[in-house]
Amino acid sequence: MTTIGIIGAGHIGSQIARKAVQLGYDVVIGNSRGPETLAELVAELGPRARAATAAQAGEAADFAVVTIPLKNYKALPAQTLAGKVVIDTINYYWERDGHIDALDGGVATTSGLVQEHLADSKVAKGFNHILAADIATTGSAACTENRRALATASDHEDAAALVTRLYEEFGFDTVQIGPLAESWRVERDRPAYGVRQNAAELKANLAKAQRVV
Ligand SMILES: NC(=O)c1ccc[n+]([C@@H]2O[C@H](COP(=O)([O-])OP(=O)(O)OC[C@H]3O[C@@H](n4cnc5c(N)ncnc54)[C@H](OP(=O)(O)O)[C@@H]3O)[C@@H](O)[C@H]2O)c1
Repeated sequence: MTTIGIIGAGHIGSQIARKAVQLGYDVVIGNSRGPETLAELVAELGPRARAATAAQAGEAADFAVVTIPLKNYKALPAQTLAGKVVIDTINYYWERDGHIDALDGGVATTSGLVQEHLADSKVAKGFNHILAADIATTGSAACTENRRALATASDHEDAAALVTRLYEEFGFDTVQIGPLAESWRVERDRPAYGVRQNAAELKANLAKAQRVV
């Protein structure tokens, strides 16, 4: 059994949890307010899921998904996530997160900041450019014509490979962006952000992206 530790139980965390339990994963999910606030969600998810604190979700994880507002990324439990693959769905909304000069100026990436904080983890970008509601509904079987593709980026090959396997199970093709330093190509306001695209279209959209928007 593989356990996914999910930190963040909002739109994206809950959708990834729903699909993951359908696929046979065990899920430990945490938020900022405490496990008792997740009773309804875990009841819906069934026996493969349990609610925990964020640190316990990290501790239990064979691999983790972090899916919280960027403004809180420094609260992610670095120690318990050390040595693990961490899939990062986090996007930068200055309206919500406050301005971060290194992102506004195009000298950092959101996932790069998360990797810097989780220095001993293997961070891979994932599920950041798909709407939460589309995660469970727009995947399809391998070799479906015009299958939807999602991007990943990581400084760790095994982390990017894990995201590729998970995307496949969720019903998506994968396009590799390369290292996290290039992951701005799929951040907010770039052509690949939020739109439904197949692998060829996604590659073209990544290539078209401008560093500062
Ligand atoms: N919504 C989308 O369609 C979408 C698509 C792709 C990527 N994203 C990105 O993915 C991330 C999550 O988005 P979302 O829409 O799921 O957000 P959301 O619905 O607002 O949920 C955020 C979750 O993060 C939890 N959280 C906040 N601070 C935390 C902390 N310090 N420790 C543990 N948990 C914490 C919240 O818990 P509490 O409620 O207990 O505070 C909540 O469960 C964001 O960065 C977003 O930009 C969103």
